[in-house]
Amino acid sequence: MRRALALAARGRYRTSPNPMVGAVVLRDGRRVGEGYHRRVGGPHAEVEALAAAGAAARAATLFVTLEPCDHHGRTPPCTEAILAAGVVRVVAAHRDPDPRVRGAGLARLRAAGVEVEEGPLAAEAVRLNLRYLVPKLLGRPLVTLKWAASLDGKIATAGGESQWISGPAARRWALALRDEHDAVLVGIGTALADDPRLDRRLGLAGGPGTRVVLDRRLRLPPTARLFDGPGPVLLYTEAAEGPAWEALAGRGAAVVRLERVEPAAVLGDLARRGVGSVLVEGGGEILAAFAAAGLFERVTGALAPLLIGGRAALGPLGGNGIGRLAEAPRVESLRWRRRGADLVFEGVREGCLPALCASVGAS
Ligand SMILES: NC(=O)c1ccc[n+]([C@@H]2O[C@H](COP(=O)([O-])OP(=O)(O)OC[C@H]3O[C@@H](n4cnc5c(N)ncnc54)[C@H](OP(=O)(O)O)[C@@H]3O)[C@@H](O)[C@H]2O)c1
Repeated sequence: MRRALALAARGRYRTSPNPMVGAVVLRDGRRVGEGYHRRVGGPHAEVEALAAAGAAARAATLFVTLEPCDHHGRTPPCTEAILAAGVVRVVAAHRDPDPRVRGAGLARLRAAGVEVEEGPLAAEAVRLNLRYLVPKLLGRPLVTLKWAASLDGKIATAGGESQWISGPAARRWALALRDEHDAVLVGIGTALADDPRLDRRLGLAGGPGTRVVLDRRLRLPPTARLFDGPGPVLLYTEAAEGPAWEALAGRGAAVVRLERVEPAAVLGDLARRGVGSVLVEGGGEILAAFAAAGLFERVTGALAPLLIGGRAALGPLGGNGIGRLAEAPRVESLRWRRRGADLVFEGVREGCLPALCASVGAS
Protein backbone atom coordinates (compact mmCIF):
# COMPACT_ATOMS: atom_id res chain seq x y z
CA MET A 1 0.00 0.00 0.00
CA ARG A 2 2.93 2.30 0.71
CA ARG A 3 4.16 1.72 -2.82
CA ALA A 4 0.65 2.35 -4.19
CA LEU A 5 0.52 5.67 -2.28
CA ALA A 6 3.90 6.71 -3.69
CA LEU A 7 2.62 5.95 -7.19
CA ALA A 8 -0.62 7.87 -6.53
CA ALA A 9 1.36 10.98 -5.54
CA ARG A 10 2.83 11.11 -9.05
CA GLY A 11 -0.58 12.32 -10.25
CA ARG A 12 -0.42 15.34 -7.93
CA TYR A 13 -0.52 18.07 -10.54
CA ARG A 14 -2.73 16.63 -13.26
CA THR A 15 -5.67 14.78 -11.72
CA SER A 16 -7.87 17.54 -10.22
CA PRO A 17 -10.87 17.28 -9.77
CA ASN A 18 -10.23 13.53 -9.69
CA PRO A 19 -8.42 11.81 -6.82
CA MET A 20 -4.81 10.69 -6.96
CA VAL A 21 -4.88 6.90 -7.02
CA GLY A 22 -2.15 4.27 -7.14
CA ALA A 23 -2.40 0.50 -7.51
CA VAL A 24 -0.08 -2.49 -7.18
CA VAL A 25 -0.74 -6.09 -8.26
CA LEU A 26 0.95 -8.65 -6.02
CA ARG A 27 1.25 -12.32 -6.97
CA ASP A 28 3.07 -14.87 -4.80
CA GLY A 29 4.69 -12.00 -2.88
CA ARG A 30 6.02 -10.37 -6.06
CA ARG A 31 4.94 -7.07 -7.62
CA VAL A 32 3.74 -8.04 -11.09
CA GLY A 33 2.08 -4.79 -12.09
CA GLU A 34 1.58 -1.24 -10.92
CA GLY A 35 -0.01 1.96 -12.12
CA TYR A 36 -1.50 5.29 -11.18
CA HIS A 37 -4.08 7.76 -12.36
CA ARG A 38 -1.93 10.09 -14.45
CA ARG A 39 -4.39 12.79 -15.48
CA VAL A 40 -8.05 13.65 -15.40
CA GLY A 41 -9.85 11.68 -18.14
CA GLY A 42 -7.03 9.10 -18.34
CA PRO A 43 -7.21 5.42 -17.30
CA HIS A 44 -7.74 4.65 -13.62
CA ALA A 45 -4.85 3.27 -11.56
CA GLU A 46 -6.36 -0.22 -11.29
CA VAL A 47 -6.71 -0.52 -15.07
CA GLU A 48 -3.09 0.58 -15.59
CA ALA A 49 -1.79 -1.85 -12.97
CA LEU A 50 -3.85 -4.77 -14.32
CA ALA A 51 -2.73 -4.06 -17.87
CA ALA A 52 0.90 -4.05 -16.71
CA ALA A 53 0.37 -7.37 -14.91
CA GLY A 54 -1.38 -9.06 -17.85
CA ALA A 55 -1.99 -12.78 -17.24
CA ALA A 56 -0.06 -12.58 -13.95
CA ALA A 57 -3.08 -10.77 -12.41
CA ARG A 58 -4.98 -14.09 -12.29
CA ALA A 59 -5.31 -15.21 -8.64
CA ALA A 60 -3.36 -12.10 -7.55
CA THR A 61 -3.99 -9.44 -4.89
CA LEU A 62 -4.67 -5.85 -5.93
CA PHE A 63 -3.66 -3.05 -3.55
CA VAL A 64 -5.36 0.24 -4.36
CA THR A 65 -5.33 3.55 -2.48
CA LEU A 66 -9.05 4.23 -3.09
CA GLU A 67 -12.11 2.03 -3.48
CA PRO A 68 -12.49 0.96 -7.14
CA CYS A 69 -15.37 2.57 -9.01
CA ASP A 70 -18.42 0.59 -10.10
CA HIS A 71 -19.96 3.03 -12.58
CA HIS A 72 -19.39 4.29 -16.09
CA GLY A 73 -17.72 7.71 -15.85
CA ARG A 74 -15.18 8.92 -18.37
CA THR A 75 -13.88 5.31 -18.28
CA PRO A 76 -15.64 1.92 -17.70
CA PRO A 77 -16.05 0.56 -14.14
CA CYS A 78 -12.82 -0.65 -12.54
CA THR A 79 -14.71 -3.44 -10.77
CA GLU A 80 -15.33 -5.06 -14.17
CA ALA A 81 -11.66 -4.89 -15.08
CA ILE A 82 -10.72 -6.42 -11.72
CA LEU A 83 -13.17 -9.30 -12.09
CA ALA A 84 -12.20 -9.90 -15.72
CA ALA A 85 -8.53 -10.10 -14.72
CA GLY A 86 -9.25 -12.86 -12.19
CA VAL A 87 -7.99 -10.99 -9.12
CA VAL A 88 -8.95 -12.90 -5.95
CA ARG A 89 -8.21 -10.30 -3.26
CA VAL A 90 -8.55 -6.50 -3.20
CA VAL A 91 -7.06 -4.31 -0.46
CA ALA A 92 -8.29 -0.68 -0.50
CA ALA A 93 -7.08 2.10 1.82
CA HIS A 94 -10.56 3.59 2.14
CA ARG A 95 -13.95 4.04 0.51
CA ASP A 96 -14.72 6.56 -2.18
CA PRO A 97 -17.26 9.15 -0.92
CA ASP A 98 -18.42 9.88 -4.48
CA PRO A 99 -22.19 9.26 -4.31
CA ARG A 100 -21.86 6.90 -7.30
CA VAL A 101 -19.45 4.67 -5.35
CA ARG A 102 -19.73 4.89 -1.51
CA GLY A 103 -19.06 1.23 -0.82
CA ALA A 104 -20.77 -0.04 -3.98
CA GLY A 105 -17.44 -0.88 -5.62
CA LEU A 106 -16.28 -3.04 -2.71
CA ALA A 107 -19.76 -4.58 -2.32
CA ARG A 108 -19.76 -5.60 -5.99
CA LEU A 109 -16.37 -7.27 -5.61
CA ARG A 110 -17.45 -9.10 -2.44
CA ALA A 111 -20.64 -10.27 -4.14
CA ALA A 112 -18.52 -11.72 -6.94
CA GLY A 113 -16.48 -13.75 -4.43
CA VAL A 114 -13.41 -11.50 -4.21
CA GLU A 115 -11.85 -11.23 -0.73
CA VAL A 116 -11.95 -7.53 0.25
CA GLU A 117 -10.00 -5.73 2.95
CA GLU A 118 -10.34 -2.00 3.77
CA GLY A 119 -8.33 0.34 5.94
CA PRO A 120 -4.54 -0.12 5.61
CA LEU A 121 -2.78 3.29 5.65
CA ALA A 122 -6.17 5.02 5.44
CA ALA A 123 -4.95 8.18 7.22
CA GLU A 124 -2.01 8.46 4.78
CA ALA A 125 -4.34 8.02 1.83
CA VAL A 126 -6.81 10.59 3.18
CA ARG A 127 -3.97 13.07 3.74
CA LEU A 128 -2.78 12.60 0.18
CA ASN A 129 -6.26 13.15 -1.22
CA LEU A 130 -7.53 16.02 0.95
CA ARG A 131 -8.04 18.00 -2.23
CA TYR A 132 -10.50 15.37 -3.49
CA LEU A 133 -12.13 14.43 -0.18
CA VAL A 134 -12.76 17.84 1.42
CA PRO A 135 -15.05 19.16 -1.37
CA LYS A 136 -16.93 15.85 -1.46
CA LEU A 137 -17.36 15.55 2.32
CA LEU A 138 -17.50 19.19 3.49
CA GLY A 139 -18.97 20.86 0.41
CA ARG A 140 -16.20 23.46 0.20
CA PRO A 141 -12.66 23.61 -1.21
CA LEU A 142 -9.65 22.25 0.66
CA VAL A 143 -7.82 25.20 2.25
CA THR A 144 -4.03 25.26 2.63
CA LEU A 145 -2.55 28.13 4.64
CA LYS A 146 0.96 28.99 3.49
CA TRP A 147 3.67 31.52 4.33
CA ALA A 148 7.39 32.13 4.28
CA ALA A 149 8.86 33.35 7.56
CA SER A 150 12.21 34.12 9.09
CA LEU A 151 13.47 31.93 11.91
CA ASP A 152 12.08 34.50 14.35
CA GLY A 153 8.65 34.25 12.77
CA LYS A 154 8.34 37.38 10.62
CA ILE A 155 6.77 37.41 7.14
CA ALA A 156 8.01 40.92 6.27
CA THR A 157 10.29 43.59 7.70
CA ALA A 158 8.78 46.42 9.75
CA GLY A 159 8.88 48.43 6.50
CA GLY A 160 6.84 45.74 4.67
CA GLU A 161 9.62 44.16 2.58
CA SER A 162 9.09 40.42 2.11
CA GLN A 163 10.76 39.54 -1.20
CA TRP A 164 12.58 37.31 -0.66
CA ILE A 165 12.67 35.79 2.78
CA SER A 166 13.15 32.23 1.54
CA GLY A 167 15.83 31.01 -0.85
CA PRO A 168 15.44 29.83 -4.48
CA ALA A 169 14.80 26.15 -3.64
CA ALA A 170 12.02 26.96 -1.16
CA ARG A 171 10.54 29.46 -3.59
CA ARG A 172 10.37 26.78 -6.26
CA TRP A 173 8.70 24.48 -3.75
CA ALA A 174 6.18 27.27 -3.01
CA LEU A 175 5.49 27.77 -6.72
CA ALA A 176 4.79 24.05 -7.11
CA LEU A 177 2.06 24.42 -4.47
CA ARG A 178 0.23 26.72 -6.88
CA ASP A 179 0.14 23.96 -9.50
CA GLU A 180 -1.30 21.64 -6.86
CA HIS A 181 -4.26 23.86 -5.98
CA ASP A 182 -7.11 25.01 -8.21
CA ALA A 183 -6.87 28.57 -6.87
CA VAL A 184 -4.42 30.92 -5.13
CA LEU A 185 -5.86 33.55 -2.76
CA VAL A 186 -4.43 36.71 -1.14
CA GLY A 187 -5.74 39.77 0.68
CA ILE A 188 -5.71 43.25 -0.80
CA GLY A 189 -2.92 44.19 1.65
CA THR A 190 -0.60 41.72 -0.07
CA ALA A 191 -1.84 42.60 -3.54
CA LEU A 192 -1.00 46.27 -2.90
CA ALA A 193 2.30 45.69 -1.08
CA ASP A 194 3.82 43.07 -3.39
CA ASP A 195 1.85 43.32 -6.65
CA PRO A 196 2.12 39.51 -7.04
CA ARG A 197 1.26 37.72 -10.29
CA LEU A 198 -0.04 34.66 -8.40
CA ASP A 199 0.43 32.61 -11.55
CA ARG A 200 1.64 29.09 -12.21
CA ARG A 201 5.10 29.25 -13.63
CA LEU A 202 6.42 25.72 -13.49
CA GLY A 203 4.08 24.13 -16.05
CA LEU A 204 3.38 21.18 -13.74
CA ALA A 205 -0.40 21.42 -13.91
CA GLY A 206 -0.49 22.02 -17.65
CA GLY A 207 -2.73 25.11 -17.48
CA PRO A 208 -3.42 28.29 -15.56
CA GLY A 209 -5.11 28.40 -12.15
CA THR A 210 -7.62 30.84 -10.67
CA ARG A 211 -6.28 33.92 -8.83
CA VAL A 212 -8.40 35.35 -6.02
CA VAL A 213 -8.13 38.64 -4.10
CA LEU A 214 -10.26 39.58 -1.07
CA ASP A 215 -10.81 43.29 -1.53
CA ARG A 216 -13.80 44.70 0.37
CA ARG A 217 -13.44 48.23 -0.97
CA LEU A 218 -12.08 47.48 -4.46
CA ARG A 219 -8.70 49.09 -3.89
CA LEU A 220 -6.94 46.83 -6.41
CA PRO A 221 -5.60 48.96 -9.28
CA PRO A 222 -6.47 47.79 -12.82
CA THR A 223 -2.72 47.97 -13.50
CA ALA A 224 -2.01 45.12 -11.04
CA ARG A 225 0.38 42.55 -12.50
CA LEU A 226 -1.99 39.68 -11.83
CA PHE A 227 -4.04 40.86 -14.81
CA ASP A 228 -1.08 40.22 -17.10
CA GLY A 229 -1.11 36.44 -16.71
CA PRO A 230 -3.55 33.83 -18.08
CA GLY A 231 -6.45 32.29 -16.14
CA PRO A 232 -9.44 33.66 -14.28
CA VAL A 233 -9.16 36.46 -11.70
CA LEU A 234 -11.85 36.63 -9.01
CA LEU A 235 -12.28 39.65 -6.75
CA TYR A 236 -14.51 39.40 -3.70
CA THR A 237 -15.83 42.74 -2.52
CA GLU A 238 -18.47 44.45 -0.44
CA ALA A 239 -18.39 47.52 -2.71
CA ALA A 240 -21.26 48.53 -4.95
CA GLU A 241 -20.91 48.70 -8.71
CA GLY A 242 -19.23 51.86 -9.92
CA PRO A 243 -16.19 53.11 -11.85
CA ALA A 244 -13.66 50.98 -9.88
CA TRP A 245 -15.77 47.87 -10.44
CA GLU A 246 -16.09 48.61 -14.16
CA ALA A 247 -12.37 49.28 -14.55
CA LEU A 248 -11.51 45.93 -12.91
CA ALA A 249 -14.17 44.04 -14.85
CA GLY A 250 -12.75 45.71 -17.97
CA ARG A 251 -9.42 44.04 -17.18
CA GLY A 252 -11.18 40.67 -17.20
CA ALA A 253 -11.81 40.20 -13.47
CA ALA A 254 -14.98 38.53 -12.25
CA VAL A 255 -16.04 40.90 -9.46
CA VAL A 256 -18.24 39.13 -6.91
CA ARG A 257 -20.19 41.12 -4.34
CA LEU A 258 -20.75 39.44 -1.01
CA GLU A 259 -22.59 40.97 1.93
CA ARG A 260 -19.55 40.15 4.06
CA VAL A 261 -16.20 39.13 2.56
CA GLU A 262 -15.59 36.36 5.08
CA PRO A 263 -13.87 32.99 4.54
CA ALA A 264 -17.07 30.91 4.70
CA ALA A 265 -18.89 33.03 2.12
CA VAL A 266 -15.85 33.14 -0.18
CA LEU A 267 -15.35 29.37 0.00
CA GLY A 268 -19.05 28.79 -0.64
CA ASP A 269 -18.86 30.86 -3.81
CA LEU A 270 -15.61 29.18 -4.91
CA ALA A 271 -17.23 25.76 -4.42
CA ARG A 272 -20.14 26.81 -6.67
CA ARG A 273 -17.58 27.73 -9.31
CA GLY A 274 -16.03 24.27 -9.16
CA VAL A 275 -12.87 25.27 -7.27
CA GLY A 276 -11.83 22.27 -5.17
CA SER A 277 -8.69 23.58 -3.47
CA VAL A 278 -7.37 26.98 -2.41
CA LEU A 279 -3.84 27.97 -1.48
CA VAL A 280 -4.06 30.97 0.87
CA GLU A 281 -0.78 32.83 0.42
CA GLY A 282 -1.41 35.64 2.89
CA GLY A 283 -0.99 38.11 4.21
CA GLY A 284 -1.35 38.02 7.93
CA GLU A 285 -4.91 39.37 8.16
CA ILE A 286 -6.27 36.91 5.64
CA LEU A 287 -4.41 33.91 7.11
CA ALA A 288 -5.75 34.91 10.54
CA ALA A 289 -9.31 35.17 9.20
CA PHE A 290 -9.22 31.59 7.84
CA ALA A 291 -7.52 30.29 10.99
CA ALA A 292 -10.01 32.01 13.30
CA ALA A 293 -12.92 30.60 11.28
CA GLY A 294 -11.40 27.10 11.54
CA LEU A 295 -11.63 26.90 7.76
CA PHE A 296 -8.38 25.17 6.81
CA GLU A 297 -6.95 21.67 6.59
CA ARG A 298 -3.28 22.09 5.81
CA VAL A 299 -0.69 24.50 7.18
CA THR A 300 2.54 24.75 5.26
CA GLY A 301 5.41 27.11 4.81
CA ALA A 302 9.10 27.82 4.71
CA LEU A 303 11.31 28.91 7.61
CA ALA A 304 14.38 30.76 6.42
CA PRO A 305 17.59 31.09 8.45
CA LEU A 306 17.51 34.84 8.99
CA LEU A 307 16.43 37.04 11.89
CA ILE A 308 14.25 40.01 10.98
CA GLY A 309 13.00 41.26 14.34
CA GLY A 310 11.13 44.49 14.84
CA ARG A 311 8.02 45.04 16.98
CA ALA A 312 6.16 46.33 13.96
CA ALA A 313 7.21 43.48 11.66
CA LEU A 314 4.32 41.14 10.85
CA GLY A 315 4.08 37.50 11.86
CA PRO A 316 2.29 34.90 9.69
CA LEU A 317 -1.06 35.44 11.43
CA GLY A 318 -2.44 38.89 12.26
CA GLY A 319 -5.96 39.47 13.51
CA ASN A 320 -6.71 39.45 17.24
CA GLY A 321 -5.22 36.02 17.88
CA ILE A 322 -6.51 33.73 20.59
CA GLY A 323 -7.02 34.65 24.24
CA ARG A 324 -5.67 31.53 25.89
CA LEU A 325 -3.20 28.90 24.73
CA ALA A 326 -5.78 26.18 25.34
CA GLU A 327 -7.94 27.77 22.60
CA ALA A 328 -5.18 27.73 19.95
CA PRO A 329 -5.94 25.60 16.91
CA ARG A 330 -3.33 22.87 16.80
CA VAL A 331 -1.55 21.29 13.88
CA GLU A 332 -0.61 17.63 13.90
CA SER A 333 1.35 15.12 11.82
CA LEU A 334 3.98 17.79 11.13
CA ARG A 335 6.54 16.93 8.47
CA TRP A 336 9.79 18.80 7.86
CA ARG A 337 12.21 18.86 4.99
CA ARG A 338 15.15 20.93 3.86
CA ARG A 339 14.88 22.99 0.71
CA GLY A 340 18.25 24.62 0.14
CA ALA A 341 19.06 26.56 3.30
CA ASP A 342 15.40 26.68 4.37
CA LEU A 343 13.14 24.29 6.23
CA VAL A 344 9.74 23.61 4.73
CA PHE A 345 6.98 22.19 6.90
CA GLU A 346 3.52 20.79 6.39
CA GLY A 347 0.92 19.77 8.96
CA VAL A 348 -2.77 19.06 9.19
CA ARG A 349 -5.33 20.75 11.46
CA GLU A 350 -5.87 18.66 14.56
CA GLY A 351 -8.85 16.36 14.30
CA CYS A 352 -9.21 16.81 10.56
CA LEU A 353 -7.79 13.44 9.47
CA PRO A 354 -9.72 11.29 12.01
CA ALA A 355 -13.00 12.99 11.07
CA LEU A 356 -12.43 12.51 7.34
CA CYS A 357 -11.25 8.91 7.88
CA ALA A 358 -14.48 8.16 9.75
CA SER A 359 -16.47 9.58 6.84
CA VAL A 360 -14.81 7.16 4.43
CA GLY A 361 -15.36 4.13 6.62
CA ALA A 362 -11.83 4.01 8.05
CA SER A 363 -12.12 5.08 11.69
N1 LIG B 1 6.25 36.17 3.72
C1 LIG B 1 5.08 35.80 3.27
O1 LIG B 1 4.80 34.62 3.13
C2 LIG B 1 4.07 36.84 2.90
C3 LIG B 1 2.95 36.44 2.17
C4 LIG B 1 1.99 37.41 1.87
C5 LIG B 1 2.16 38.71 2.31
N2 LIG B 1 3.26 39.06 3.01
C6 LIG B 1 3.44 40.41 3.49
O2 LIG B 1 2.33 40.70 4.34
C7 LIG B 1 2.00 42.09 4.21
C8 LIG B 1 0.53 42.21 3.89
O3 LIG B 1 -0.22 41.57 4.90
P1 LIG B 1 -1.52 42.22 5.51
O4 LIG B 1 -1.91 41.42 6.68
O5 LIG B 1 -1.28 43.68 5.64
O6 LIG B 1 -2.55 42.11 4.31
P2 LIG B 1 -3.50 40.96 3.76
O7 LIG B 1 -3.78 39.95 4.80
O8 LIG B 1 -2.96 40.51 2.45
O9 LIG B 1 -4.78 41.82 3.45
C9 LIG B 1 -5.52 42.38 4.50
C10 LIG B 1 -6.67 43.16 3.92
O10 LIG B 1 -7.56 42.27 3.26
C11 LIG B 1 -8.85 42.84 3.28
N3 LIG B 1 -9.82 41.83 3.67
C12 LIG B 1 -10.84 41.38 2.91
N4 LIG B 1 -11.57 40.49 3.56
C13 LIG B 1 -10.99 40.32 4.75
C14 LIG B 1 -11.30 39.50 5.87
N5 LIG B 1 -12.36 38.66 5.87
N6 LIG B 1 -10.52 39.57 6.96
C15 LIG B 1 -9.45 40.40 6.97
N7 LIG B 1 -9.11 41.19 5.95
C16 LIG B 1 -9.88 41.16 4.85
C17 LIG B 1 -8.80 44.00 4.26
O11 LIG B 1 -8.77 45.19 3.51
P3 LIG B 1 -10.15 45.82 2.99
O12 LIG B 1 -10.99 46.01 4.23
O13 LIG B 1 -9.78 47.06 2.29
O14 LIG B 1 -10.74 44.81 2.08
C18 LIG B 1 -7.50 43.82 4.97
O15 LIG B 1 -6.93 45.02 5.37
C19 LIG B 1 2.90 42.65 3.16
O16 LIG B 1 3.99 43.27 3.78
C20 LIG B 1 3.38 41.43 2.40
O17 LIG B 1 4.64 41.64 1.82
C21 LIG B 1 4.22 38.15 3.31
